[in-house]
Amino acid sequence: MNKFVPVMACLLLLAGCGTGPKGSMGFTLPDGDPNTGKLLFTAFQCSSCHTIKGVAQPEAPELKVALGGETSRIQTYGELVTSIVNPSHKLAKKYAEELVSVNGVSRMRNYNDVMTVSQLIDLVAFVQSSYKLEAYKPTDYEHYRFDIGH
Ligand code: HEC
Repeated sequence: MNKFVPVMACLLLLAGCGTGPKGSMGFTLPDGDPNTGKLLFTAFQCSSCHTIKGVAQPEAPELKVALGGETSRIQTYGELVTSIVNPSHKLAKKYAEELVSVNGVSRMRNYNDVMTVSQLIDLVAFVQSSYKLEAYKPTDYEHYRFDIGH
């Protein structure tokens, strides 16, 4: 047997559980509002590159990258959030590389400096509702939501 196989297995295991200092263990976003998320999906013009159940694409879309469904690559909640916050971390597999990226960088826009955390939470709640993802347990948030701006 190739001696790298056990090493690879460990790495995969680590990545899967996310237990390292930079792992995803313990990461959750609070429960968002999918209806607001749906409005944001159009407001941020995600629909100019993505098809998703319930949202019409504009007339001359830039791209038609499908989101949601059972066959999509996204498997976990963490992956979904990461693909929005850092689109190039893993490029969607079922499309030709030159279609979805330029020199390995995703053609998806980076929203990190224009999207609030609350908007991200709602957007993820909407996009998540069209995927079949591993369940996650949201953190309790309502208590803090109304403290902002005092
Ligand atoms: C300029 C075009 C463009 C816009 C605008 C855009 N995206 Fe993307 N997006 C892409 C491309 C191309 C990919 C596939 C390459 C990749 O995985 O980054 C992608 C991938 C994704 C993925 C991962 C899909 C998968 O199966 O791996 C998610 C989730 C996603 N986008 C969500 C969004 C959301 C939410 C918005 C709006 C806030 C948005 N995108 C706006 C082009 C865009």
